[in-house]
Amino acid sequence: MSTKTNILITGVTGYIGGSVLDRFLKRPDFSTFKITVLVRSPEKAKKLEAHNVHAVVGSHSDVPLMESLAADSDVVIATADADNYEAAIATLQGLKKRHAATGKAPILIHTSGTGVLTDHAAGDYATETIYDDSNPDQIETLADTQLHRNVDLEIVRADKEGYLKSYIILPSTIYGIASNVLVDQGIQNPHSIQVPALIRAALDRGQAGTVGAGKNLWPDVDIDDVADLYLVLFDAIRKDPSVPGHGREGYYFGENGEHNMYEVGKAIGDALVALGQSATPDPTPFTKEETDKYFGGTYLGTNSRARANRSRAIGWKPIKTKADFLASIRPEVEALAKARKA
Ligand SMILES: NC(=O)c1ccc[n+]([C@@H]2O[C@H](COP(=O)([O-])OP(=O)(O)OC[C@H]3O[C@@H](n4cnc5c(N)ncnc54)[C@H](OP(=O)(O)O)[C@@H]3O)[C@@H](O)[C@H]2O)c1
Repeated sequence: MSTKTNILITGVTGYIGGSVLDRFLKRPDFSTFKITVLVRSPEKAKKLEAHNVHAVVGSHSDVPLMESLAADSDVVIATADADNYEAAIATLQGLKKRHAATGKAPILIHTSGTGVLTDHAAGDYATETIYDDSNPDQIETLADTQLHRNVDLEIVRADKEGYLKSYIILPSTIYGIASNVLVDQGIQNPHSIQVPALIRAALDRGQAGTVGAGKNLWPDVDIDDVADLYLVLFDAIRKDPSVPGHGREGYYFGENGEHNMYEVGKAIGDALVALGQSATPDPTPFTKEETDKYFGGTYLGTNSRARANRSRAIGWKPIKTKADFLASIRPEVEALAKARKA
């Protein structure tokens, strides 16, 4: 029997997952792992095989496939879709089988997001409420209907049943253009979600915008710091599984700064003016038609306030700060403006 640790990673062609896989590829102990990745593109699977990972072509919505891949894994790192309930349940079922076969509780590191903390501010105010990842009582005050929560609750329930150990990473607004060999080879998406969506909307309307007055607050975190969080957690669990919290005590926020959305709009506006793409640097509120068209609603007007105390307690040391976040916006505008013209 192989003595290697079987690790399944989903979402490796994505912004977060590719950055996490790249960290594994660079580890000196890489050969002690059997890494399996699940991807939808056969071309990308082929390119990934060249990195000595086992690439399976398929969708995580394929329940029998997802279940059988999880059943072969000691560790599952899920980064594909925080909200795919069926994929999460299939993963749990597979890991339950793994436990039955080995007698050991496998590890699930799932990706959620601080979107779970959001309110209905619509950009009109900054909330006073700040969530602390080391305070499970406070996290349990969140309504079951909050974004991501249906999946997160199933995962925590599985941990309570005892057949796996669950760890949920909740990044906030991740920023920065990912840069690594997987990006260079066209395997990984290098762009994040929130700020690029605001930039694409601004490019389209010729002016930066905010939802409402943009007074709402969000935390931010650099993509390399996020990738580090996955690896720091992975190493902490393997070093001494009794140390990092799991289950209801296994929420790990990713944040190292906080901004309001007006600041983001203004930084986009400044970049647009510098590039000759807008006559004014000042953001204006998006109309209802615009928020529906560009973002499918007022999500970017919500507050999400978080402190990553548990993540820091396991040794995570994020480097980049709010100043880096704001400085990342201009290169992102330049890259997306160029891509738009191409
Ligand atoms: N970026 C952020 O700021 C942020 C912050 C907090 C939470 N999150 C959450 O983290 C998750 C990943 O975010 P991301 O920024 O890395 O997104 P992304 O770049 O769009 O990556 C998504 C990845 O999931 C894969 N995927 C999607 N559906 C799949 C399916 N049915 N079967 C197999 N693979 C599938 C995609 O594969 P393809 O290449 O085939 O499309 C891609 O590899 C999302 O749920 C997001 O909401 C993101």
